[in-house]
Amino acid sequence: MATGTSAGEAGHDTPTGREAVGPAPQATVPAAVAPGRPEAAAARNAAARNGAADAAPSAAPLLAVRDLTVSYPGRLGRRQVAVRGVSFEIAAGETFGLVGESGSGKSTISRVLLGLRRADSGSVLLDGEDVTHASRRARRRLAPQVQMVFQDPYGSLNPDRRIGDTVGAGLLFHTELTRAQRRARVAELLAEVGLDPALAAAYPEELSGGMRQRVGIARALALEPRLLVADEPVSALDVSVQAQVLNLLTELQRSRGLAMLFISHDLTVVRHMSSRIAVLRAGEIVEAGDRDQIMERPESDYTRALLAAGLSARRPAAA
Ligand SMILES: Nc1ncnc2c1ncn2[C@@H]1O[C@H](COP(=O)(O)OP(=O)(O)OP(=O)(O)O)[C@@H](O)[C@H]1O
Ligand SMILES: [Mg+2]
Repeated sequence: MATGTSAGEAGHDTPTGREAVGPAPQATVPAAVAPGRPEAAAARNAAARNGAADAAPSAAPLLAVRDLTVSYPGRLGRRQVAVRGVSFEIAAGETFGLVGESGSGKSTISRVLLGLRRADSGSVLLDGEDVTHASRRARRRLAPQVQMVFQDPYGSLNPDRRIGDTVGAGLLFHTELTRAQRRARVAELLAEVGLDPALAAAYPEELSGGMRQRVGIARALALEPRLLVADEPVSALDVSVQAQVLNLLTELQRSRGLAMLFISHDLTVVRHMSSRIAVLRAGEIVEAGDRDQIMERPESDYTRALLAAGLSARRPAAA
């Protein structure tokens, strides 16, 4: 039974620093692969797959991204390739970290996973089913299984919509629940993310950034997804609130057995959340492997630079 306490910015949650974010569950660890030359790409992609060759055979991964290439229309009719030949797998219940500097293609990958953007080539398989080329009907069936937690807790909530309606919108579209059942479910979801269920009647402007992000998480959980895509879920929050939201994500991931693609420019945050990590640079995976290997024995100069640069790869925001 959840407590239903209101999660204020300071003090109501477990008082933690970032160090208190628990270790991610261990997953099958692929062998390290030498980075650097283009011909190593296939091998690096192999390292991003879950399961080394000598590991015991496991069930098909929950998510398999295969040789994904995505481009945007560019100047003079030339397309700009944002993601090139990216492959990785995420097992059920695993948190996989994707780290890279601004513009490296992280959000482009998440948009494809959410079905918001088409890939030029390659595929995304959910439980072995190709989402990239699925029919509209199949996509509608698969869509609830992958849900998103957005970066901006201010921009991602409709300011004119009550919190309860935001959290319950997916239930309205994808389930047959009655109004009363939806209201009860929304109350449960709010409690599960540490918010007072009475906040269902509130509007976003009445909530702090941390509380709004909890609403975003409750919305993402409403349809019982199997994979949560968290794209920079705390980078817009005060440092004091970041650890609380990360802890919540970790708790939910464990209690629900959720798989998570955790995206950040910040290797220190990714490290705390993920069992395996892929490092993305200019749309390509330069290195992938077990969290400890990436953090303690990085093979790529780029990963080393990420670590050295104050453990943060974010370029300063434009003025
Ligand atoms: N809608 C778009 N139209 C054209 N180019 C785009 C579009 N969205 C992204 N890009 C380009 O694609 C590349 C990857 O962008 P993306 O947003 O995926 O990066 P990111 O790693 O998420 O960066 P950030 O850390 O700043 O969020 C960048 O060069 C970006 O300019
Ligand atoms: Mg992004």
